[in-house]
Amino acid sequence: MTGIEELLLSRIRDVADYPEPGVMFKDITPLLADPAAFTALTDALAEIAANTGATKVVGLEARGFILGAPVAVRAGLGFIPVRKAGKLPGATLGQAYDLEYGSAEIEVHAEDLTGGDRILIVDDVLATGGTAEASIQLIRRAGAEVAGLAVLMELGFLGGRARLEPALTGAPLEALLTV
Ligand code: PRP
Ligand code: MG
Repeated sequence: MTGIEELLLSRIRDVADYPEPGVMFKDITPLLADPAAFTALTDALAEIAANTGATKVVGLEARGFILGAPVAVRAGLGFIPVRKAGKLPGATLGQAYDLEYGSAEIEVHAEDLTGGDRILIVDDVLATGGTAEASIQLIRRAGAEVAGLAVLMELGFLGGRARLEPALTGAPLEALLTV
């Protein structure tokens, strides 16, 4: 394990049986509260933004906002919020996706993404891949290109990477940690 992986992992807290019995929640708040760890995370994700040739960063509400906004600033790129439905006041594009129970929808301001854009999507955790898959579909429908998807942590046992492979069409999926 590299030094940065050790640092990041040491600042993620496992919370058993949250939000429901049998689930081990990965709490990133200790990492956010540690300026050295948060800076190292931001720098690593900003380097991915540069390497993928991204022109904008999309963050996925809510924890993707916390990580994605400083990455955009560090990389010198604009930040675009993909929000849960009903929160954006302008003309939006929406994408529904399935949850374990029921469904959800995410939205983006249509004017924020255009044909020339290459988007790095940033989120904290890749679990089943449902949220990320919907965001990829949304970005493509807006006419922009997906430069890549970058997450702090991939939960490998949930198979999100395999699910996203067709949608990513060769764009990289970068996870700083895999657990
Ligand atoms: C969590 C996490 C990812 C998503 C991963 O978000 O932050 O965005 O789930 O799950 P998936 O790969 O199975 O889609 P959630 O909406 O639960 O909470 P948040 O608003 O705190 O980010
Ligand atoms: Mg989330």
